[in-house]
Amino acid sequence: MPLVTTKEMFEKSMKEHYAIGAFNINNMEFIQAITEAANEAKSPVILQVSSSAIKYAGIKYLMKMVEAAVESTDIPIALHLDHGPDFETCKMCIDAGFTSVMIDGSKYDFEENVALTKQVVEYAHSKGVVVEAELGKLAGIEDDVNVAASDAMYTDPEQAEEFVRRTGCDSLAIAIGTSHGAYKFKGEAKLRFDILAKIKERLPNTPIVLHGASSVIPRLVEMCNENGGNIPGAKGCPNEMLKEAGENGVSKINVDTDLRLAMTAQVRRVFNEDPSVFDPRKYLGEARKEIKATVLDKINNVFCSGGKA
Ligand code: G3H
Ligand code: 13P
Ligand code: ZN
Repeated sequence: MPLVTTKEMFEKSMKEHYAIGAFNINNMEFIQAITEAANEAKSPVILQVSSSAIKYAGIKYLMKMVEAAVESTDIPIALHLDHGPDFETCKMCIDAGFTSVMIDGSKYDFEENVALTKQVVEYAHSKGVVVEAELGKLAGIEDDVNVAASDAMYTDPEQAEEFVRRTGCDSLAIAIGTSHGAYKFKGEAKLRFDILAKIKERLPNTPIVLHGASSVIPRLVEMCNENGGNIPGAKGCPNEMLKEAGENGVSKINVDTDLRLAMTAQVRRVFNEDPSVFDPRKYLGEARKEIKATVLDKINNVFCSGGKA
């Protein structure tokens, strides 16, 4: 099956109340682990690439590796630009064969965000590509934009309705309390499900996206720290909240940090347990297994997209 857009996968997920995982990729091991897990679980999946991942790996390498994964599996796979910073980057990805792009205008004011998003939507739709946009600001680090936690701005439901109507975007990323990275909550974890419900009331047919949705898996944080790492006090979004989000109108859940932790934990463990190892296949192989297990668990037990391919 060739790469698909997210249109059909979101239509089905909205009807059946589950979410689809969107996992960030940077190299071959991530791509193989994620797509093998999704294939085993018979789940649709979204592979997403940030502009820094493009800088790191190169768009041609990423495209070819994703093509290889598509040929090796039998599930719907969408290739998505994560946090597209400007029109030019979105256009480059659309022209390269991505099936979905995000234009992240959340750093601009409302009118500028509308204008930029509209420009991307017009180009993307003329090429059969779908567009995710963002309204509201996530606390924490958003690519190059650093939003202080105290400035976190939840998405306004009324504005969300106007934004989707005026831009024609296909899906909308909202801010309801999640944030990027390994430090999401100072005290108790809390998501504003009341805001999500109000947004869904106004936009029942628009797929909603949750960024910053890693659970910052305690076992992996511990494995990192026990093997020479230093990431104390890391805290993510509890799985029960993510499950609740999927059941209540969130169609796409973004995960990057958990997969970074999975890779780092295993690489650290192998090096720590056997300092004589210098064959990259030994530690990257263990890392790939851990990423795959992490993705499988999320698909089957949290997002509930297993068997929906
Ligand atoms: O939300 C951002 C993603 O985690 C991508 O991060 O720009 O470091 O690749 P990155
Ligand atoms: P995490 O940092 O919680 O994994 O979020 C990733 C993300 O939102 C990518 O766009
Ligand atoms: Zn994000």
